[in-house]
Amino acid sequence: MADAPTAPYDVIIIGGGPGGYNAAIRAGQLGLRAACVEMRETLGGTCLNVGCMPSKALLHASELYEAASRDFAGLGIDVSPRLNLAQMMAQKQESVNGLTKGIEFLFKKNKVDWLKGRGRLDGPGRVTVEGPDGTVTYETRNVVIATGSEPTPLPGVAFEDGKVVDSTGALSLASVPKSLVVIGAGIIGLELGSVWRRLGAEVTVVEYLDRITPGMDSDMAKAFQRVLTKQGVKFRLGTKVTGTRVVKAGVELTVEPSKGGEAEVLTGDVVLVAIGRKPFTEGLGLETVGVTPDARGFLANDHFKVADGVWVIGDVTHGPMLAHKAEEDAVACIERIAGKAGHVDYNLVPSVVYTFPEAAWVGKTEEELKAAGIAYKAGKFPFSANSRAKINHETEGFAKVLADAATDRILGVHILGPQAGEMIGEACVVMAFGGASEDLARTCHPHPTRSEAVRQAAMGVEGWTMQA
Ligand code: FAD
Ligand code: NAI
Repeated sequence: MADAPTAPYDVIIIGGGPGGYNAAIRAGQLGLRAACVEMRETLGGTCLNVGCMPSKALLHASELYEAASRDFAGLGIDVSPRLNLAQMMAQKQESVNGLTKGIEFLFKKNKVDWLKGRGRLDGPGRVTVEGPDGTVTYETRNVVIATGSEPTPLPGVAFEDGKVVDSTGALSLASVPKSLVVIGAGIIGLELGSVWRRLGAEVTVVEYLDRITPGMDSDMAKAFQRVLTKQGVKFRLGTKVTGTRVVKAGVELTVEPSKGGEAEVLTGDVVLVAIGRKPFTEGLGLETVGVTPDARGFLANDHFKVADGVWVIGDVTHGPMLAHKAEEDAVACIERIAGKAGHVDYNLVPSVVYTFPEAAWVGKTEEELKAAGIAYKAGKFPFSANSRAKINHETEGFAKVLADAATDRILGVHILGPQAGEMIGEACVVMAFGGASEDLARTCHPHPTRSEAVRQAAMGVEGWTMQA
């Protein structure tokens, strides 16, 4: 047992992902004596190491590979691209390394201590860290739990390296499988399914529900599915996987209709299980501070507080499991610890699927507004009528603005199109200021840009779309 430092910390954060590292940096900025416990070799959590960043690196590279193979000739550029998967993986890892080192730099800059090792709560005001330097117990006024999440396993489906994989495995396949079966038509399944399809795999997505991407506006989800189908992704909706078996030729999956019916066998070289993620609290010593996870493993909170001096942020608590949501939680939680008024508006947390085209949205879907009995007006504008999209030969998708029928306040914005993820930020800002569709419609936008389609959709709310 190593010697414990004498002075207590103001805050110790357990977990160094987007929740944890942003909390630590904000604590440092506010002059709190802060430490962050992380058991990985590198900081950055799921997002930087095996999530957002490596997946976006492969999405970017595979998108260019497909464009070079399929679209360049039509633009008058004759090339014969050849895939170098090892280099594609190496550049991904190099970017990840740079990003995780960047967090280490920010810790130093903001005087945050990285306590390397596995942390656990050890009664009120105490955190014990088992690390390379032994086991040390630290005193602290506050603990922030930011331990994140892990893939949800599927009963009857055992993971096997390179054959039946989770998202981490699918980010590092050693070769392009001839066929990939993805279980779950959610964000991971569609992003990583897109990567491997572009690189040459035949991709089949098996989804329990009778639609893809639950949570997305269903009008947009249908259009999104059509686009992905045109690209060659096959969908088996309303289908459940009851088991997998690794055989010589690959993997056999037993599937049957979700609502009951005849079972059948699908085969694939590789199976990606992407049916959601669950909170990670293993061995955390929650019982020592009187905290019990709910039935699904989440730690419920009251303005981030779970017990006296114990707080929670990010994937391990409620709300969308997104890096930017974890970051919002982090800032608000630390500001509350510092006696300020931290607050997050969860209605304004945007979602983006980084496929091609991208799908992005913020606020309410049409189904949610109907279910809540809110009268709304919709304006919709197709990218096929947007000059920038046409000139770039990228005309799939649309922008849709939903506004309150009485007040015109924007309630939701949904965009399916290239760079939708960049454009949704404008909708977040308008909505954060309580803006109306007319505010967006009467704001000058640069020409020629796809953002004009968002403006035209806002014009459509009052029926004066000018370009379609
Ligand atoms: P995490 O990032 O999971 O970090 C928790 C950290 O805590 C981990 O590093 C873990 O090692 C550490 N830890 C846990 N327990 C202990 C302990 N006892 N002691 C010490 N350390 C501990 N979100 C987006 O917004 N955009 C995206 O594009 C996106 N892409 C994704 C792609 C994939 C393939 C995946 C899997 C996820 C993606 N996400 C994306 C989701 C995003 O990664 C998470 O929402 C985000 O990382 C959550 O942050 P967090 O800080 O709550 O937890
Ligand atoms: P998800 O919740 O997005 O999708 C899971 C899908 O699997 C759903 O469509 C669900 O109906 C389906 N499903 C569940 N059980 C099933 C079963 N037994 N058989 C077939 N289908 C089944 O979860 P996913 O894709 O695993 O992602 C996890 C989290 O990571 C998400 O919450 C997401 O927010 C986050 N993420 C975010 C990204 C982004 O922001 N671009 C990228 C990747 C992940």
